[in-house]
Amino acid sequence: MKFSALDRQKEIYLDGFSGRRPRIPTSFDQLEAAAREKASEAAFAYIAGGAGMQTTVANNREGFHKLRIRPRMLRDVSTRDTSIELFGRRLPSPLFLAPIGALELVHKEADKAVARAAARLGLPMIFSNQAAFSMEDCSAEMGDSPRWFQLYWSKSDELVISFLQRAAACGCEAIVVTLDTTMLGWRPMDLDLGHLPFSFAKGLGQYVSDPVFQRIVRENWEKGGLETPPGFTFSKLFNFFRQVANYKGGGSFLQKLQSKFPLVGVRTFTDIYSRPSISWDDLSFLREHTKLPILLKGILRGDDAQLALDHGVDGIIVSNHGGRQVGGAIASIDALPEVVKVIDGRIPVLMDSGIRDGSDVFKALALGATAACIGRPYAYALALAGEQGVYELLANMMAEFELTMGLAGCRGIGEMRGLADERM
Ligand code: FNR
Ligand code: LAC
Repeated sequence: MKFSALDRQKEIYLDGFSGRRPRIPTSFDQLEAAAREKASEAAFAYIAGGAGMQTTVANNREGFHKLRIRPRMLRDVSTRDTSIELFGRRLPSPLFLAPIGALELVHKEADKAVARAAARLGLPMIFSNQAAFSMEDCSAEMGDSPRWFQLYWSKSDELVISFLQRAAACGCEAIVVTLDTTMLGWRPMDLDLGHLPFSFAKGLGQYVSDPVFQRIVRENWEKGGLETPPGFTFSKLFNFFRQVANYKGGGSFLQKLQSKFPLVGVRTFTDIYSRPSISWDDLSFLREHTKLPILLKGILRGDDAQLALDHGVDGIIVSNHGGRQVGGAIASIDALPEVVKVIDGRIPVLMDSGIRDGSDVFKALALGATAACIGRPYAYALALAGEQGVYELLANMMAEFELTMGLAGCRGIGEMRGLADERM
């Protein structure tokens, strides 16, 4: 059934008439506050946290805030088409789900629940390299609904190739290479709790399901020499149990406990997950190993956009990783116009970081983005109400975007360019 903003709006008001309030607040700030109540302190810190003094996170919000939409009137907006075409696929709305790792921190169904919600609306989901569940498991939840795979460039070429092959085999239609996280940023909210999800074997779904990774872990395990840090504490023992319980694969709980296989797995992951040495010339390696379109995520400058064009990539995602990597960085929405100008319509330019509602999506498109990716809002909705929560959040975003578009005098995506600018 075709999605309609007015139907979604009606549904909420009818529910209200029957005494049912929506579980997902429409205000991002309320959504975040509710998720904070529901999630553990460490889980909330991991999702909400940004780099350094949290200035980039704030800049992303401020960047959208200072943009003002100037609606046009009397333009017959009785029919509105929010669909776009990308890499030969028609998509219902210019909305993507950004890749988010370690979602089992807030819900046991994690990415699988998100995948189902996305598929119900036909919105493309970008599977995270750090997902809780494997891309095959998530694909199985999605029918033929669109999905892409996000890659962190591992130190192991073989593992990179394996991820690329698996992505194609499970129906992913593009590869997103995230460039801004060759190392994890300095994140005070996590640092102050000393908490990293991967230590607890969370966010390793793509790895533990991978034959190449499994082989490398086995080799490391056979080499032995596993030094555990000296000194006994109850926390260490408890957390070791948690790690063993979370680690998928390697036998039963007892077998895993005895073999310490999960410990080797987590260490192996830490060793090879990322390759900080990657440079522009390495992109040809990806091209050799996949036929899928390749997009670069994390571009924030015109000169890098030019290099992306020179290296023949198929698309760009303007992003500062939700402010999680570099403190004091430019807002992604502020970087967008320069990138759009350089790219000049030759390849799609998606954007994320700071999209909080449908009018933010409109602003991104008004500045020339092809589509916008939703991040933290859906992670919070997942924490609050699982699959249904994510579904409602996404439906609300789609509805608000469609209404904003129509109320600004646009019948379709092509008409909103230039309708937002800085006028304080
Ligand atoms: C992310 N992001 C991310 N990006 C990526 O390429 N791979 C990943 O595994 C993750 N993991 C991840 C975890 C969490 C908890 C967050 C909040 C973000 C970044 C994500 O794709 C996107 O760029 C940001 O979420 C956009 O910022 P906002 O709009 O969520 O603030
Ligand atoms: C993060 C990584 C997983 O932002 O992308 O936490």
